[in-house]
Amino acid sequence: MTLAGKRIVLIVSGGIAAYKSLDLIRRLRERGATVRPVMTRGAQEFVTPLAVGALSASHVYTELFSREDEQDVGHIRLARDCDLIVIAPATADLMAKMANGLADDLASTVLLATDMPVLVAPAMNPKMWAHPATKRNVATLTADGLSFIGPMAGEMAESGENGLGRMAEPLDIVAAAERLLDDGPKPLAGRTAIVTSGPTHEPIDPVRYIANRSSGRQGHAIAAALARLGADVTLVSGPVTIADPKGVATVHVERAEEMRDAVISRLPADIAVMVAAVADWRVAASAGQKIKKKPGEAPSPLQLTENPDILKTVGHHEHRPKIVVGFAAETENVEDNGRAKLERKGADLIVANDVSPETGIMGGTRNSVKLITRTSVEQWPDLSKDEVADRLARRITETLNGG
Ligand code: C5P
Repeated sequence: MTLAGKRIVLIVSGGIAAYKSLDLIRRLRERGATVRPVMTRGAQEFVTPLAVGALSASHVYTELFSREDEQDVGHIRLARDCDLIVIAPATADLMAKMANGLADDLASTVLLATDMPVLVAPAMNPKMWAHPATKRNVATLTADGLSFIGPMAGEMAESGENGLGRMAEPLDIVAAAERLLDDGPKPLAGRTAIVTSGPTHEPIDPVRYIANRSSGRQGHAIAAALARLGADVTLVSGPVTIADPKGVATVHVERAEEMRDAVISRLPADIAVMVAAVADWRVAASAGQKIKKKPGEAPSPLQLTENPDILKTVGHHEHRPKIVVGFAAETENVEDNGRAKLERKGADLIVANDVSPETGIMGGTRNSVKLITRTSVEQWPDLSKDEVADRLARRITETLNGG
């Protein structure tokens, strides 16, 4: 009963994936949650309020201007008397409304009136998901602190098209809800952790920089997972577009040297997890003014110099944390390179992953990793980055607490 006593408002908007919401209601209730459903007009074209009401054992809220609904709880109480709002499926239209603060029906009004955590499970045609307008809206909502699960790749129910747009499976949505509502045991209470995440930006001149494709999703998820287990976490993040994780002190930096300084200034700590994709090189002398193109002249080569290796510095520091974890993003020989890295950098664990472009891991939401210790190699199944984070946080806890 991982959701025992939790009150969830489930907003169902109008997409074919609404049929999966029926199963989602069952799964949430099986785990002890109560579910209050809100349906948009569109949703009612795909599944009936009768089915939603029967499965949730609740009144189904559909109208903003309904005397009956308003007398029952009213949209403001609907928005506040809950622990979590889940939107599944979330259409492009509902996300656009939310991103712009529109409130012209019950669902959008509840979403504007709430200060509770909101979990969004988008479902739409791949072209709609890839549209710049939708991307803008997702970025806005992420920055507003909403959490997303999915969409997943696969075949669309209506058109048979392939691509990103399928709603996440009900059990994955439940797991994401559990993570957001977690009030489980705190085996890392009293422990301190430092996590790095995201890329670094190494300036070429005041307007240009060298960067990489890291999104920060994995590092941020690890910081959040350690915090959920009770650790006092500092996240040192390079430039990313995702929100700071809840319950984590986040320090924003741009360059590798700034990241190193921020990390070292927070030692000693019990745990260090260095996930950032730190640029190996920076421009030796970045220009104070914008470098101008001169007609007829060949471009001048960039002189690079090596950046500090933050993981290696931490792994060999006099205040070395009890557990030092590194990542190894490789495109070939994942295991051998990971092992070599463990030794060279003085780490206890290396999480190695294959970031060849075809895996979609760099910048994506899923990850397929090998956990390399001094004595073993474990292949973990294909998991969401949140699940990798949870597993890693549990493993760190066991190692630290002598498990
Ligand atoms: O050597 P490589 O960049 O592949 O090592 C990856 C691991 O080292 C990651 O954990 C990364 O965060 C860390 N690293 C670092 N500072 C660097 C380069 C990598 O902390 N300058």
